[in-house]
Amino acid sequence: MTERPRVWVSQPLFDDIVARLGEHFEVTATPEVTRHAPAAMAAALAAADGALVTLNDPIGAAEIAAAPRLRAIANVGVGYNNLDLPALSAAGILVTNTPDVLTETTADFGFALMMATARRIGEAERWLREGQWRQWSFDVLLGGDVHGATLGILGMGRIGRAIARRAGGFGMRVLYHNRSRLDPQVEREHAAEYVGFDELLARADHLILVLPYSPQSHRLIDAAALAKLRPHATLTNIARGGIVDEDALCDALEQGRLAGAGLDVFEGEPALNPRLLQQRRVVLTPHVASGSLATRRAMVALAVDNLIAALGRGPNAGRPPS
Ligand code: DGY
Repeated sequence: MTERPRVWVSQPLFDDIVARLGEHFEVTATPEVTRHAPAAMAAALAAADGALVTLNDPIGAAEIAAAPRLRAIANVGVGYNNLDLPALSAAGILVTNTPDVLTETTADFGFALMMATARRIGEAERWLREGQWRQWSFDVLLGGDVHGATLGILGMGRIGRAIARRAGGFGMRVLYHNRSRLDPQVEREHAAEYVGFDELLARADHLILVLPYSPQSHRLIDAAALAKLRPHATLTNIARGGIVDEDALCDALEQGRLAGAGLDVFEGEPALNPRLLQQRRVVLTPHVASGSLATRRAMVALAVDNLIAALGRGPNAGRPPS
């Protein structure tokens, strides 16, 4: 009897979905949410033909060198900055991700976080819970409007476009900046105007970050970029924490050069820059933008399908990251 391929599952996911891997492979699953130490990760991958991993699992050259059998990695997530793609590709290891299935859910959350930031919902709730509400008053916790405002979208991929569609329903003007300009027909469909990076910053009432994390986007929103935003503007980040210089953001908030920030992602997450926790005008959430039950299940199901396809059909099968 030929040996079945061995698969390592790096985190507990939905058992009923992951169980499908057992129909094809010998599966070793991690029972608890774990930050795998590099040596433990290398040991797990050394024995595996395939792996189902999440953004918690950085895989680089050292882990790959220790994994001679590894043929495929299915990442549960659309972002894959946890993976060293050039090293994986040089080793002939196929990588897949889970686009599409999370687009609308993530756009819902990004829009909600932008609204919560503009209307100071987190701050208002904290204020109420602290017992500070003595009587209704006219000028307490005044925020900025969302309807009719100008939304700046940095990164106009699937999620950026889904956010633009929501903005249309709120009568917002949509500006975007992207590595490459969209087809004019797609721009028309989304009522979105392409502008340069500096113009996006200068004109947005609300700026939302939806671009991939890469060496080029590392701390793209730094002190100089923040200085171009208008003082009444808000910044929302549902992409990756490393795109924003968090200390520069705190400086801007403390000096009243920015009205607020909604952050679902953080550079050192789950560790937080302590200065962020001191800011009043922020809404902070623990990287949950794609976190509806249905969407998280769909992400795991797609990753499982990808791994079955990739290991079942050889090195070029499955869905490459897009
Ligand atoms: C992703 O998919 O990249 C998100 O950040 C987690 O859902």
